[in-house]
Amino acid sequence: MATLETSVDTTTEVYQENYAHYQELVNELYGKIENVKQGGTLKARERHLKRGKLLARDRIFALVDPGTFFMELSPLAGEKLYESALPSAGIITGIGKIQGRFVMLIANDPTVKGGTYYPITVKKHLRAQEVAAENKLPCIYLVDSGGAYLPLQDEVFPDITGFGRIFYNQSRMSADGIPQIAVVLGQCIAGGAYVAAMSDETIIVKNQGAIYLGGPELVYAATGEVIDAESLGGAEMHCRVSGVADHLADNDAHALTICRDLVSHLPQPTSSSLSDIHTLTAVSSVPRSFADPLYDSRELYGIIPEDVRQPMPSHEIIARIVDGSDFHEFKALYGETLICGFATIHGFEVGIVANNGILFSESALKGTHFIELCNQRGTPLVFLQNIAGFMVGKHYEQHGIAKDGAKMVTAVATSRVAKFTVIIGGSFGAGNYAMCGRAYGARQLWIWPNARISVMGGDVAASLMSQIQHKKDDQTFIQNIKNQFAEQGSPYYASARLWDDGIIEPLQTRRYLAQGLAMSKSNPIEFGHRYPIYRM
Ligand code: COA
Repeated sequence: MATLETSVDTTTEVYQENYAHYQELVNELYGKIENVKQGGTLKARERHLKRGKLLARDRIFALVDPGTFFMELSPLAGEKLYESALPSAGIITGIGKIQGRFVMLIANDPTVKGGTYYPITVKKHLRAQEVAAENKLPCIYLVDSGGAYLPLQDEVFPDITGFGRIFYNQSRMSADGIPQIAVVLGQCIAGGAYVAAMSDETIIVKNQGAIYLGGPELVYAATGEVIDAESLGGAEMHCRVSGVADHLADNDAHALTICRDLVSHLPQPTSSSLSDIHTLTAVSSVPRSFADPLYDSRELYGIIPEDVRQPMPSHEIIARIVDGSDFHEFKALYGETLICGFATIHGFEVGIVANNGILFSESALKGTHFIELCNQRGTPLVFLQNIAGFMVGKHYEQHGIAKDGAKMVTAVATSRVAKFTVIIGGSFGAGNYAMCGRAYGARQLWIWPNARISVMGGDVAASLMSQIQHKKDDQTFIQNIKNQFAEQGSPYYASARLWDDGIIEPLQTRRYLAQGLAMSKSNPIEFGHRYPIYRM
């Protein structure tokens, strides 16, 4: 491998201004994350604690192996989406380790609107299940929820992306040998009761957990029967009489200990898909020993320009993400606006695809070639996305930019290896697709706090719209469009809507990619070998 050299001068004014600006972005990010980590209102948290329960995040930390990294997904989902605040969308999801193996944790936060499911809560739950299914991770549901948020029942109930899909996914994963474990620590009501009933094994806490299709009030309203909650759906009843739950726990801590025991008896993951991929190489499945990047990753703060329209020196960024800053570049002299090459991250072999300017035909063809190489070799792909789009204009259209771009999009879409995307700058237009945007099935997609994402830049959109609507001289109209794009292009706007798996700062990038690569090893290849039709 060739070691990347650096030409970053940390003493320049530009570097220092960039650094100070980036530090502010990072402070803002951590401020927001700390805020949502509190959970619901103080009153709701106090009431919860008085009931002798642990808060949702504390449940997770009691469950995972001490001192291990919990890779939380989308903590800022739900921000400013509804009239009421909905910290973390009322549900905490992420990947942790229990007894040394990766698991997906999905925990309702009952201090946020009774742990009920808003549309974004359902979306977040479904995304976590998708990540679990792709990486064959056992799912652990820490249930404490009032079920569907009734005022928005039409948006959460019957559609393909509705509440019902949660249980569909549970069954499918169970059938696929992916363990499903429910720990009922509070209410598990109505449709939500199926989280427990459809799990492979269910733990429930005495005098605290309850599973029923209809609570006492609903039973009275429907049938006139008067019954207390414990007799109707309490832990003792379900463990001794109905058989809806399997393990009786005394309290939260006891339930979590039982859960850890259950995980220790799960079979170790097998790489079943390895057997039918003759080309999959040992290098991609076994991490090697590794060195940190040669250059301080914190220098990324000073390297990333404050203005997203300024070019970003992609080699400098790669040099601060990959092991030993070693990078074996592919076709370095051709299609230079796309950088492709091999490297390792925490010892895992990866193919890196990084933008270095606008996409031209040559860069798209080079990207297609490189993605095919990675697929042939079973090497996971890492996309570092900073793209204004594909080149436009008569010359480029006549030379088939559309069909060359389509080749790269096709290669990304039909890629069989695990893909990871980090939006490190702009994410605009079809460049988003070619660089493995959300719709292209990255196992994880992270976004940096300096990133911007929209169908096109605000200035271009304002100019385009003012022409279409014959308002070229209407400055208010133009400014309104710019403002709209500025607001909607923010990474916080994106993350609130789950267009990504979370905003991470540059210093965390290696760690997040490494964990994603490590957990993808249970299922390194997504489907069999097939060639699409490439438009020639
Ligand atoms: N839909 C809408 N809002 C709900 C709700 C639901 N299903 N369940 C609870 N909430 C709201 C409450 O109105 C309250 O809102 P507020 O903070 O604005 O006052 C908040 O969630 C907390 O509920 P509260 O009853 O005060 O808390 P609790 O901890 O004592 O009880 C539940 C929580 C979930 C056990 C209880 O609210 C309940 O039984 N809810 C109805 C559950 C149900 O029947 N769901 C059927 C869904 S298909």
